Amino acid sequence: LHPDATDIASSSSLPGLRGKAIDCRMCDLCGPATRTVSGEGNPAARIIFVGEQPGDQEDLQGRPFVGPAGQLFDRALKEAGGNRAQAWITNAVKHFKFVPKGNRRIHQKPDAAEITACSPWLATERKILAPKVTVMLGVTGASAVLGRQVTVSRERSRHIPLADGSIGLVTVHPSYLLRLPDEESKTREYTKFVTDLRMAISALA
Ligand code: URA
Repeated sequence: LHPDATDIASSSSLPGLRGKAIDCRMCDLCGPATRTVSGEGNPAARIIFVGEQPGDQEDLQGRPFVGPAGQLFDRALKEAGGNRAQAWITNAVKHFKFVPKGNRRIHQKPDAAEITACSPWLATERKILAPKVTVMLGVTGASAVLGRQVTVSRERSRHIPLADGSIGLVTVHPSYLLRLPDEESKTREYTKFVTDLRMAISALA
């Protein structure tokens, strides 16, 4: 039997939630993906980072943000005075969505139905963790947390009050920084990203 929204919402521990997520069939992405990639980190974290979905490396290793975007994220977080060991790292969608191309797997954006299907995992994860600060990395993480359409450029870089009384902050996804065409915009956008992370961390005080 595969978990449904009621089973998911009734979870009371992060390891319990992770165990259930292994067998998730809430949408069709579980078929081609290697495995569920659940959130991980410090269960006492007061800050959570919400990305989009696992990429190729994450799907293979079973851990969020361990590929190129994750390495950039780790560097920026350190520079902002943060520390992955004190944080919880997760994604809006827990399975890798891709199309095969030769021997490569090309990332596809999850659609609204897939984000909605996966939403009980993130909602329950955040309910159990109850972080003081939720950092939304990119549009998918932001729409999943805020429950509405988001324009990152319009909503980034400020503290957003969330429904449960905690604080949200929207910033760009680290993959966006990797895709920028020239060094000048890469440096500028990376600096803005670090500033956003610092602003998120400052809300913990
Ligand atoms: N991009 C994401 O949004 N999440 C990951 O875990 C890796 C890359």
